Amino acid sequence: SVGLPRHVESMPRLPSGNGRISRLSAVVLGEALAAEENDLIFPSPEFSRDALVSSPEQYRKMYKRSIEDPAGFWSEIAAQFYWKKRWSPDVYSENIDVRKGPVKIEWFKGGITNICYNALDRNIEAGNGDKVALYWEGNEPGQDGQLTYAQLLDQVCQLANYLKHVGVSKGDAVVIYLPMLMELPIAMLACARIGAVHSVVFAGFSAESLAQRIIDCKPKVVVCSNAVSRGAKVINLKAIVDNALAESANNGIAVDLCLVYENQSTMKKEDTKWQDGRDILWQEVVPQFPTKCPVEWVDAEDPLFLLYTSGSTGKPKGVLHTTGGYMVYTATTFKYAFDYKPSDVYWCTADCGWITGHSYVTYGPLLNGATVLVFEGAPSYPDPGRCWDIVDKYKVTLFYTAPTLVRALMREGDEYVTRYSRKSLRVLGSVGEPINPSAWRWFYNVVGDSRCPISDTWWQTETGGFLITPIPGAWPQKPGSATFPFFGVQPVIVDEKGNELEGECSGYLCIKNSWPGIFRSLYGDHERYETTYFKPFAGYYFSGDGCRRDKDGYHWLTGRVDDVINVSGHRIGTAEIESALVYHPHCAEAAVVGVDHPVKGQGIYAFVTLVDGVDYTDEVRKSLILAVRTQIGAFAAPDKIHWAPGLPKTRSGKIMRRILRKIASKQLDELGDISTLAEPSVVNQLIEFTDR
Ligand code: PRX
Repeated sequence: SVGLPRHVESMPRLPSGNGRISRLSAVVLGEALAAEENDLIFPSPEFSRDALVSSPEQYRKMYKRSIEDPAGFWSEIAAQFYWKKRWSPDVYSENIDVRKGPVKIEWFKGGITNICYNALDRNIEAGNGDKVALYWEGNEPGQDGQLTYAQLLDQVCQLANYLKHVGVSKGDAVVIYLPMLMELPIAMLACARIGAVHSVVFAGFSAESLAQRIIDCKPKVVVCSNAVSRGAKVINLKAIVDNALAESANNGIAVDLCLVYENQSTMKKEDTKWQDGRDILWQEVVPQFPTKCPVEWVDAEDPLFLLYTSGSTGKPKGVLHTTGGYMVYTATTFKYAFDYKPSDVYWCTADCGWITGHSYVTYGPLLNGATVLVFEGAPSYPDPGRCWDIVDKYKVTLFYTAPTLVRALMREGDEYVTRYSRKSLRVLGSVGEPINPSAWRWFYNVVGDSRCPISDTWWQTETGGFLITPIPGAWPQKPGSATFPFFGVQPVIVDEKGNELEGECSGYLCIKNSWPGIFRSLYGDHERYETTYFKPFAGYYFSGDGCRRDKDGYHWLTGRVDDVINVSGHRIGTAEIESALVYHPHCAEAAVVGVDHPVKGQGIYAFVTLVDGVDYTDEVRKSLILAVRTQIGAFAAPDKIHWAPGLPKTRSGKIMRRILRKIASKQLDELGDISTLAEPSVVNQLIEFTDR
């Protein structure tokens, strides 16, 4: 028997009887951690009573089982899905210890299943064919649509049949570059149905970034749309795709087929260029195909999708997720972290271009037979009350978003919220970056009327699903803490040498074992997979995040410890932005750091040295920012360009980012030792240039 870690044993109990509901700390502005740590926000007794997990004791029992007998725990859950053939011989096998050989993780291997079948057909067979699967709310209020489970299956089958017709088969990659239309989950599910591997690219990425991903995974087909409206803007997506396809063709990767969904928008027809033979209009071909499509049964370990994400070095890497474990894990985490009930209406504001949209717009909720809202527009268009208007319109019960949106709406004032009823809301969720306690409180008190628990879910593209998350109803929350591990997850906090720390501590957050939803490799680069995630602390999965554990065992994520920054919940490597900057002919050298930003969480701060003879002008500054927008995407545009006649480097030429971070955040009295710099005088020069 493994025994429970001390931090799980010591979690606070819920009050018995009609206990206190919630005690709000007087410290609202200071955000002093000590105060936060003592601030317990309890779920109401009614909420706990009706919850899937009602008490720390119940959680502890389930958690203990999941750690002591993972095979038993997960196979019981997996048995609730349809398997054409049961896995064998083992529920899982893993080696995550690089000292013992290559990292290899398998869950439900030998099991034959299909995630699309489990999300759609299985729910329809259970009598939910007429239940709404997807609501769609367009950019303009009043634009909307919906599909029942049966209708969704029909549409998925038509597209699946079309894809098969054009030669896509099991194992082939399909790149999807679509905005948040129902066609986006439809395209993902259609790929899954026929065993094709989807690679969704967020439709805010530039042509360059899209091309990079196409070149890496060599898709048979690119699925896109002509345009998207976001707020008052119309974006010509097809033009971006055209450029990306030209760029990939130049690199020897010619894509023969581009399926274009015509999104009703105000864009004029003649603005969409058409390459005959390559470009096909979705609406012309897909509806002609049959609404029944046989399922391609796949092994639990067959790939389901690739999703590119940023690391601290080099190009974005293709995170590879497989079928069976991901299915079981996303469904189970969704169910417990949101305390899912069949009557819920669920809205996650994330785009399917990111992992949150994969696991918690498409797969997790649909596997549970949930009703999911897909929103195309911008959350503050036409005004900052839009989200709550939508909540009331669809009677949303579970609302899952990112701290950056919470902070942005908080700034607009409470009236935009309180003018709507929001009575339907039951559970709120947060993801993408640590949520600061004042934003947590506003979300809790104003949006949730002090009655909806907040699930602050900590996880990553690589983890497939939640690893540390509240289970609402089971234990009291602390504003800003992701609280405790999900079933089967053993988080450990280690020091630089990899020693596990106990009790109150802070250090690097690692996970001790595998869980069903963990990614299996980086596409085409298993070595980088091992080096990045399993070598830094041998024997563990290393998350790249820092974490503190308090006296009650609560986990407080403190942000990335590598050169990755989190901008509005979007993850980006500083190295990627630097290489976009130095691509500019006037840029000699660039160093990018993250700085605190009141809305975005982190802002992008770029130190730039220009080539000799070029003047430091506003025009150059603008063209540098434009370079990043076109190389990566608008969300990666630097917030600040700081002219740097020289960068602080060690004698061996390494840029000292520690110093740059201090200069960027104006903590000039904390520069530390600069005597090891090759030229200490550049520091003063930089400070002098701060507002040039
Ligand atoms: O730093 C952590 C932060 O987001 C990173 C993962 O980014 P990505 O792979 O793009 O996935 C985002 C959606 C899961 C993590 O390494 N992060 C995510 N959720 C939280 C968080 N930091 C603190 N609290 C969270 N709830």
